[in-house]
Amino acid sequence: MDPVNVREFEALARERLDPVHYDYFAGAAQDEITVRANESAFARLALVPRVLRGAAAPTLDVTLLGADASMPIVMSPTAFHRLAHPDGERATARAAAEAGTIMIAAMLSTVAIEDIAAEAGKVAADPALWFQLYIQPDLGFTEAIVRRAEAAGCRALVVTVDSPALGRHERNDRNAFHDLPDGIRCENLRELRGGEPGSVRQVVLSPEISWRHIDWLREITPLPIVLKGALHPLDARLAVERGVDALLVSNHGGRQLDTMPATIDQLPFVAEAVEGRVPLLLDGGVRRGTDVVKALALGARAVAVGRPVLWGLAADGEAGVARVLEMLRAETAHTLTLCGCDGPRAVTRDLVRETRCCH
Ligand code: FNR
Repeated sequence: MDPVNVREFEALARERLDPVHYDYFAGAAQDEITVRANESAFARLALVPRVLRGAAAPTLDVTLLGADASMPIVMSPTAFHRLAHPDGERATARAAAEAGTIMIAAMLSTVAIEDIAAEAGKVAADPALWFQLYIQPDLGFTEAIVRRAEAAGCRALVVTVDSPALGRHERNDRNAFHDLPDGIRCENLRELRGGEPGSVRQVVLSPEISWRHIDWLREITPLPIVLKGALHPLDARLAVERGVDALLVSNHGGRQLDTMPATIDQLPFVAEAVEGRVPLLLDGGVRRGTDVVKALALGARAVAVGRPVLWGLAADGEAGVARVLEMLRAETAHTLTLCGCDGPRAVTRDLVRETRCCH
């Protein structure tokens, strides 16, 4: 049966995936409290629509750091797409370019960033590709990766800052899933020697990474910098003062520190700290067009989706990702119409109200 919504795509993906890989994608840290909270917090918020506004049919396009997106929904960076489908990030990149939205390619992708960019370029003349970076203590290596992303045409760096150590995923421990299968590698972590691909490095997640590294990055690249995973309002303010160009409000889909707040619950606090000085994106638990509109109401310029893309990819490759994106697009347009809004900019704070129970 064809899935009719994103959650049904997850069920289909689960049927098709190796259970160990399904657990890797679906799982989160420790008791998985945060990953559940991300979704249930959206359910606790109610939309209070305006009526009789005679609004035009909604248009969804937004501009993010100079990149045009056809909807306020972009792709979060997620690792290892070739575990979901043999085409891996190639399929994801084509679907994103076809949908006219931004793909944030993960540093831990299983297709090299140059090949991801080439694939997107086959579909769209000017695809919007951003690159997610874990700053490595070896700055020379970090700089080499940044240069590759720049040369491939990536238009922003999304620096993930919620990972001074790897999150503890008990599902992976139980399944003894610690290595990629033969033939699947993190292609961006290959050392290039004289243009020839060499050995693949291990990613290093280090607690020593600090604001100094953000300053360093600012100096070595002209690309806009998006900080992903700063949830504390004091950090959000520091980020703005340090000249960061945007924030992606994220708890890593519950995969890092368990019991972090749901992102939609934390968004208003970050928005208050930032006072509109930089655009905010949000990811975590976005599964419906209503979730998108709630995030816009509470201060996000756009949302990003992680697992929904992986479910589409596992279910049906590029076509599956395309379907997931189109479902979210259609639901968002429909929700805007039902709220009396003609586009993302018409969504205001008063459309959302907290309720006590989950629906
Ligand atoms: C992630 N995420 C992630 N984030 C990041 O900055 N670098 C990465 O390599 C990864 N890898 C990754 C793998 C998998 C399997 C998942 C599910 C997630 C986190 C991701 O960018 C995003 O924050 C969350 O996925 C958003 O939550 P939802 O949409 O999955 O609920």
